[in-house]
Amino acid sequence: MQVIHLSVECFPVAKVGGLADVVGSLPKYLRQLGVDASVMMPFFDRKFTQDHQFDSVAKGEFYQGSSLLSYEVLRESNDSLGFPLYLIRIPGVLDREEVYCYPDEAEQWIAFQHAVLHYLKTNDIRPDVLHCHDHHVGLIPFLIRFTNEYRSLAEVRTVFTVHNGQYQGWMSWSKGILLPGFDTWKWGLLDWDGVINPLATAIKCCDAYTTVSEGYLEELYKEANGLQALFYDERAKSHGIVNGIDTAYWDPVTDQLIIENYGIAQVDEGKLANKKILSTQYGLDPALPLLSFIGRFATEKGADILADIIEDLLGNSKVSLNIFILGSGDATIQNNIAALLQRYKGRLAAFFGYNEGLAHQVYAASDLLIMPSRVEPCGLNQLYALKYGTIPVVRKIGGLKDTVIDVEDAGYGFVFDEVDSTQATAAVSRALAYISNAKQFDQIREKAMELDFSWHQSAQKYIDLYNQLLR
Ligand code: GLC
Repeated sequence: MQVIHLSVECFPVAKVGGLADVVGSLPKYLRQLGVDASVMMPFFDRKFTQDHQFDSVAKGEFYQGSSLLSYEVLRESNDSLGFPLYLIRIPGVLDREEVYCYPDEAEQWIAFQHAVLHYLKTNDIRPDVLHCHDHHVGLIPFLIRFTNEYRSLAEVRTVFTVHNGQYQGWMSWSKGILLPGFDTWKWGLLDWDGVINPLATAIKCCDAYTTVSEGYLEELYKEANGLQALFYDERAKSHGIVNGIDTAYWDPVTDQLIIENYGIAQVDEGKLANKKILSTQYGLDPALPLLSFIGRFATEKGADILADIIEDLLGNSKVSLNIFILGSGDATIQNNIAALLQRYKGRLAAFFGYNEGLAHQVYAASDLLIMPSRVEPCGLNQLYALKYGTIPVVRKIGGLKDTVIDVEDAGYGFVFDEVDSTQATAAVSRALAYISNAKQFDQIREKAMELDFSWHQSAQKYIDLYNQLLR
């Protein structure tokens, strides 16, 4: 069975969020189960593409509106990611440094989708499944069914995975002329509320759609940034499949990016050794429990209440705790946290930016990880944390609700209901009470580290879904 994953992010080529982690690992695990899985993504001028060798496998050109675009398909020569990686380069359009935030994003993603289909068609490649990830590639299921140009691919099954339903790829109808000529009476499939909405188009036209947790699927039926009725109407083809983590890369026993490796048996010493190093670097006290936040500074992630949580916890003289923040994003959120660094010097430290290596070290060093998310389709950070014996303190939402069970319910985490600093602080305080009883905390930690959130089960669920569509 041949499955091509289409995405604009893939770790380690280009990562902004969890989408990259999933696309960079799921195909590897599908291949271990016998699926011929590969990834096709836009070319980015970044470290990975500079450091690796590529072979040119095809060239072609197509009209996008009135511009003639030339593309080249490159394949990474050594398959170093564990699956074939194809990059589509279009000079001036798909050869940039950053993944997002260019003013001509609509042109970029239309060009990518167009080039993918042009390449498949002209080289007579017919995968069994095109697996599309997020709205950037949401027009694919429409394009293969309702354009003359690509109707020859109409038999290819399409799976669309929603990693984040908040972003939908809205573009004004003036961009319609950039699409290959389509059956005009089908325009309604592109439209939602008077604009082209690629996420809505994907849900309407794909053979099956999946969300990255079951909890998130249920939530989308009720609130999906305007598309809830659509998700609900199309529920017969929906599936919630929780993400896995790449344990070849995220495992404290073998992790090359942490200072001291450890397994369950050495978790106390191992974490302390890692905490000592981080504490020395950032002026914290390794004798105190360490609570961390890792992620994007976005209201979606609840990062806007971090400053209040810090104030509540560190402003209270009875709480003995260090806090580490690693992230970047919204400038106001960052400034609010930065403003506290001086006041809580020695107890609060931060790194503003993206730093994969440091993230590994922080998981290894921390006792607790906080995720006060407003929306969390799956969440991978809590899964990484559990693997590293770092106990998650999470808001009860989406994938967090599915994967973190509170210690009060015989689980291994601390859960709170609302995005609210008082509730979050209370959950942290509850966790600190457990930490003060070393034996009890060790048991929770062991339970966490024994959980299996590897890809094996979820990759099999995708295969079952592909098979169901091909029957
Ligand atoms: C998005 C979601 C996150 C999910 C990830 C991978 O980043 O916000 O919850 O884990 O995609 O599916």
